[in-house]
Amino acid sequence: MTRMLKGILSQTLAAEEAACLCSSFDIIGNAVIIKIPETLTPKRGLIGKIILDEIKHVKSVFVQVSSVNGDYRLRGLELIAGENTTLVEYKEHGCKFKVDLNNTYFSPRLSTERLRIANLVSNCEVVTNMFAGVGTYSIIIAKKHRNCKVFNIDINPVAIDLSNFNSRLNGVESRVISMLGDARDLIPTEILSQADRVLMPLPEKAYEFVDCAVQALKDDGGIIHYFAHIKASGKKNALEQSLIDIKSAFTNYDIEIQFGRIVREVGPRLYQVVTDIYVNK
Ligand SMILES: C[S@@+](CC[C@H](N)C(=O)[O-])C[C@H]1O[C@@H](n2cnc3c(N)ncnc32)[C@H](O)[C@@H]1O
Repeated sequence: MTRMLKGILSQTLAAEEAACLCSSFDIIGNAVIIKIPETLTPKRGLIGKIILDEIKHVKSVFVQVSSVNGDYRLRGLELIAGENTTLVEYKEHGCKFKVDLNNTYFSPRLSTERLRIANLVSNCEVVTNMFAGVGTYSIIIAKKHRNCKVFNIDINPVAIDLSNFNSRLNGVESRVISMLGDARDLIPTEILSQADRVLMPLPEKAYEFVDCAVQALKDDGGIIHYFAHIKASGKKNALEQSLIDIKSAFTNYDIEIQFGRIVREVGPRLYQVVTDIYVNK
């Protein structure tokens, strides 16, 4: 896709202009989200029109005008071409999702990670997804494993409405239990000690929720998929630094690190790292 976009844009823009646009370009259903550097602001409309004309199924092109921010992890979007709708349908790993690009968090760049985790789950597991968004991880897991139950928590009401919708869309509504609220409140009061596996896909501040994630695990322990953003000079250093951070965040617990990998680079010298941690309780 990157090569195709570069080809399309380089007919109209200078090669280096086209290159810097291509690394920050996502297609989500019928929508494109692109980051455009300030120097190219006057060409925003033109860039939008080229994308709309050249990529057949695309109906809307948005420019991302702010980084992901706030409790709901939302980003600012401005329409630069096509239809002004941010409600799109997206398909991944045999599942369909309705996503509201304006009012919920979503990234197609986590697709490989979603499948990796879904493949680790065994059939009768109970999973708690503490930061569920529109239900992507939870629904892929539930669809892949027919006897698996997932507690699907998010603090954003729009995300939970879409999670419920998406669970029905994929026929897993009886096994994906969506819960609206702060994971720190819901886990101790409603789903304490039930999970074989806990997902923590809130890399900016997962460390604040470690006690709560451990509380969610069954009394004999289980796996936590811990996401973090790590500042480091390179990928190898990021993995090393993440281990140091984890030892500090889980200092009160008996843990075994099972696996770690860089999910993606999210900024200059900033890496998203996932670590699979077994916690003995
Ligand atoms: C980075 S997004 C991940 C969404 C989803 N797992 C995905 O990968 O598409 C983090 C999500 O956590 C939710 N969130 C933030 N703080 C929360 C909290 N205290 N309790 C529950 N959910 C929270 C946000 O609303 C957001 O949807």
